[in-house]
Amino acid sequence: MTGATAGLSAHALDRIAAQPGTRVIIGARGAGRKVPAGVEILPLDLASLDQVRGFADAVLQRIGDARIDVLVLNAGMQSPAIRAVTPITPKALDPLALAHPAKGGLGSGMRAYAASKLCNLLTAQAVAASADVQDRGVSVVAFNPGLTGGTSLGRDSSPVARIVVRALMGAIFRVVGLFKPEYVMSTAERSGEQLAQVALGVVTPPPGRIYVSLVKGEPTFPDPSELARSRDAQQQLWRDSADMVGLGAGNRL
Ligand SMILES: NC(=O)c1ccc[n+]([C@@H]2O[C@H](COP(=O)([O-])OP(=O)(O)OC[C@H]3O[C@@H](n4cnc5c(N)ncnc54)[C@H](OP(=O)(O)O)[C@@H]3O)[C@@H](O)[C@H]2O)c1
Repeated sequence: MTGATAGLSAHALDRIAAQPGTRVIIGARGAGRKVPAGVEILPLDLASLDQVRGFADAVLQRIGDARIDVLVLNAGMQSPAIRAVTPITPKALDPLALAHPAKGGLGSGMRAYAASKLCNLLTAQAVAASADVQDRGVSVVAFNPGLTGGTSLGRDSSPVARIVVRALMGAIFRVVGLFKPEYVMSTAERSGEQLAQVALGVVTPPPGRIYVSLVKGEPTFPDPSELARSRDAQQQLWRDSADMVGLGAGNRL
């Protein structure tokens, strides 16, 4: 698991680690992380590709011949450049530009965040559609916890931004949520519980679908956006990402 040291995934970790006969390895940055008894921690700062590679090697070394049954890739962050909550999904796909969004400007942090989530969905679908994954019968699920309070996602925002977000969440979203249930805030416990259910295969999308999106803490299985469903965009992102991290042609889908 990644991102299991805080927020909703820390609750998911509690539930997954409590399953009998389950061995859990998490990647975490920094030292002295508090995790349930028996959970193994390996160093991982996802901002460093060297550390990503080191983590993958260390996991393989540690598990030896054992098989990995479940990967929970939850880590994420929001840019401190956020000034207001404006979920803007990019209309065109340019992975290089998404990886290096223009600095500054109203909503630039949120655009970068939305772009990162779009890339998550594109990547999940690209992996799900790959012949290797299909031949091996691996299930790929893209999980959106929906609006979830009580996590540390906005921790890097300025105090002013945090007040704006809290006001939006506490007042405006409460009213909007009367008409649009996806704006109703869930709790970290509930979203974490649902993430664990998905990871453990208790909640599964219907055949042919891979997207689980919580609304009011309950799983729904909507179509991703048109752009997220574009096979061309999925392949372009995979190709460009492979080039950017130096994976080379052998890793093309
Ligand atoms: N909360 C929401 O409303 C919401 C809505 C939709 C999607 N999500 C997504 O759900 C996931 C969990 O969010 P959350 O709200 O629970 O956030 P959170 O409380 O901030 O937890 C984020 C986790 O990701 C880890 N992480 C961040 N950057 C990392 C890095 N460079 N290297 C290694 N680990 C890193 C953090 O580790 P540290 O403990 O070291 O900081 C932490 O464990 C994220 O992907 C988020 O984008 C959240």
